[in-house]
Amino acid sequence: MKKDTSTILKVLLGLLVLSAIILLINNNSSVDSNAKNETANISESLTFYTQEDVATHKIESDCWTTIADEVYNLTPYIKMHPGGEGSIVRLCGIDGIEAFSAKHGENPRAKDELLSLKIGEIKN
Ligand code: HEM
Repeated sequence: MKKDTSTILKVLLGLLVLSAIILLINNNSSVDSNAKNETANISESLTFYTQEDVATHKIESDCWTTIADEVYNLTPYIKMHPGGEGSIVRLCGIDGIEAFSAKHGENPRAKDELLSLKIGEIKN
């Protein structure tokens, strides 16, 4: 009788461990599918502009530029630019790749700052 009880207990313990493992696996796969959904939303929320759209934002108080087919709103950065306002204002409404690469092509800090200003991509 005692032997029977201990066998039952062992089976129950086994079942408990098995359900814990199944629960763990299920949790992980739901985290995975959440991550997939997020990625899908990010690519869906990407905004596309034409170079003509960019050209309409050509003044200091509303300043967009294109760099390597990506669109940046430089407006909040103009007053913060360590190299002065003038060099940035010159890029408002135009494709700024040449000026940016010539000055900052190899500068990781400038590339980082630029990334924080991204608002979309060019799709003509
Ligand atoms: C359009 C986006 C631009 C961003 C986000 C940007 C960002 C920056 C940053 C982060 C610095 C400090 C660099 C450091 O200390 O390592 C800097 C400095 C400077 N930038 Fe820019 N910049 C931009 C465009 C330009 C352009 C088009 C020019 C000139 C053609 C220019 C001229 C300068 C100058 C003269 C400095 C002073 C320090 C140095 O010579 O590196 N920048 N910029």
